[in-house]
Amino acid sequence: MPVRAQVKPGDVKNKLPASPPTSPESIDDLMQDLQNIIVPGLTQAQHPMHYGWFPANASLSSVLGDIASSGLGTVGISWESCPALTEVEQVVCDWLRQLTGLSDQWQGTIHDTASTACLTALIVAREQASDYAQNRGGLQSEPKPLIAYTTAEAHSSVTKAAMLAGYGLQNIRKVAMDPITRAMSSIALADSISNDLANGCQPAAIIASVGSTGITAIDPVAQIALIANRHKIWLHVDAAMAGSAMLLPECRHLWQGVEEADSISWNPHKWMGTILDCALFYVKQPDLLIRVMSTNPSYLRSTVDSEVVQYRDWGIPLGRRFRALKLWFHLRLDGPDAIRERLRRDLENAQWFTRQVESTPHWQILMPVNLQTICIRHQPPGLNEDALDTHTLAWVDAINQSGDAFMSPSQLEGRWMVRVSIGVESTEREHVLKLWTLIQKTASNCLSTLT
Ligand SMILES: Cc1ncc(COP(=O)(O)O)c(C=O)c1O
Repeated sequence: MPVRAQVKPGDVKNKLPASPPTSPESIDDLMQDLQNIIVPGLTQAQHPMHYGWFPANASLSSVLGDIASSGLGTVGISWESCPALTEVEQVVCDWLRQLTGLSDQWQGTIHDTASTACLTALIVAREQASDYAQNRGGLQSEPKPLIAYTTAEAHSSVTKAAMLAGYGLQNIRKVAMDPITRAMSSIALADSISNDLANGCQPAAIIASVGSTGITAIDPVAQIALIANRHKIWLHVDAAMAGSAMLLPECRHLWQGVEEADSISWNPHKWMGTILDCALFYVKQPDLLIRVMSTNPSYLRSTVDSEVVQYRDWGIPLGRRFRALKLWFHLRLDGPDAIRERLRRDLENAQWFTRQVESTPHWQILMPVNLQTICIRHQPPGLNEDALDTHTLAWVDAINQSGDAFMSPSQLEGRWMVRVSIGVESTEREHVLKLWTLIQKTASNCLSTLT
């Protein structure tokens, strides 16, 4: 299959009837349409030549767990509605806590996405900073604006979560970054907080990125945590992508200081390879989540409520899927050592690719390669900035359209570059070599058209 779906907007929809079926159809007809209409409309995220966004692996073992979860037809609305759902979730969250080197002060739950985890953290931070204003007039009656701090490198879901949690765009501070690494400057953070305090604002939350989406920037969690703790500001660590790397002891320095944070989220559904959707959310004080989000309607009560965890009180939705099963299958059938071996293979492939780019004239590695994503640009002499942008977008688009490989162009300080994110389960060194050959050939062809 081509890596990127070779369809135009509307192609899939136009092949489907506008009206719903009036009578049951045969499974054969359905499967034929699945093959002929749906599959061509998929961008092949599991293709070894997919280097876009971040890897979102669908390991077979976790797919089996997902199928089991659907097939068992469970309903997770309380411990009583499916005791195994709650207790397997407790166990697998704790397994992953241990596998990523976190201390036993953390307790976890599974959300659909890191976006939801961040929103949950920011709602609790809001309530903590406002002395639980929701029990009075809510944010509308608060005299001091609550402030959230992050950087321009943070994922778009962070700003979205802060806006949805009611902070308001004008109360989200994009703290200055180190000019080289684009990591949050702790000095700028401290200054910004002092400034807000002097102006009668209430600092409420800091969101540190460990592995930003654009360039894998790593905010200095230890330094940020010192500031957060000094001012009693909630610190949420968004390690959506880099959390997988924490299975490797040699990568854990990247989130040094994480033990001092208040919440952490990361996605096994990215690089680690538990099929979407599976985002872990850890807190030290679940009682704060419960204080803000608990509901206790009579129809959900049971005689064991005082003895069990009710995950509905730890987050936003009531009903939950048995997501823990896919982690349980994944960890048991593949085993952590095989997962670690694959992650290390990808890190080595990223280093190999980096060396090829560095040693080739007119090619540049633009940012430090902290994990498995490499930011590159072809910079032949004689092109001004606008022409360079045109050239960058031309060669990456030519590759993406060909279906031979897929990468995500992205902007760095307003100028286009290309992210090569290595880490699909099926990607081996031979594929990375093929990509590098393809990139050089395509960029050279595009250049001759441009000049
Ligand atoms: C650093 C970071 N944070 C958050 C997210 C949002 O993840 P999700 O799709 O699970 O909401 C992403 C997605 O790529 C990410 O890279």
